[in-house]
Amino acid sequence: MIRILFVCLGNICRSPSAEGVMRDLVSRAGLAHKIEIDSAGTGAWHIGEPPDARAVKAAAARGLDLSGQRARQISAADFGAFDYILAMDRKNLEVLKRMRPRPQKKTAALHLFLVNANTGQHDVPDPYYGDAADFDIMLDLIEAAAHAFLLRLVAEGGLAFKPEFR
Ligand code: 4NP
Repeated sequence: MIRILFVCLGNICRSPSAEGVMRDLVSRAGLAHKIEIDSAGTGAWHIGEPPDARAVKAAAARGLDLSGQRARQISAADFGAFDYILAMDRKNLEVLKRMRPRPQKKTAALHLFLVNANTGQHDVPDPYYGDAADFDIMLDLIEAAAHAFLLRLVAEGGLAFKPEFR
């Protein structure tokens, strides 16, 4: 099993969207039994809340259902439980680097999510104080990076797509 954790600040906009996009891709690729996906926030403000209504709406317009997700805060144990922790921006990556427990036998590979895509950007911009268009831009970036990351996992992990998946 490959375990992936997406992390943003609040776990109500970017990382739940990444979780939803990645879960859908993985399921369409026929890899749901091989890849486990979760998301968390570095902040604690929204623990227990569903994703932001604007994120749910933008995802629904692309056929994705985020409504069952609930926000949680990342914990030290997550570094041992996941193979990949993917930060949605450089600020959260820095927070994750500082909180990463060490030494530890097994620790997740920690990366910026967007390094996986040729978007020319480092950060998925925080749409929280933005409008519906910002949530669409967010989803475009997430879709590009999620697709590229899945291709990388398949190439590196010897996984095989369902033949109909492109
Ligand atoms: P997210 O967006 O990190 O993509 O979930 C935010 C959500 C809430 C806040 C900031 C960013 N906040 O300050 O409450």
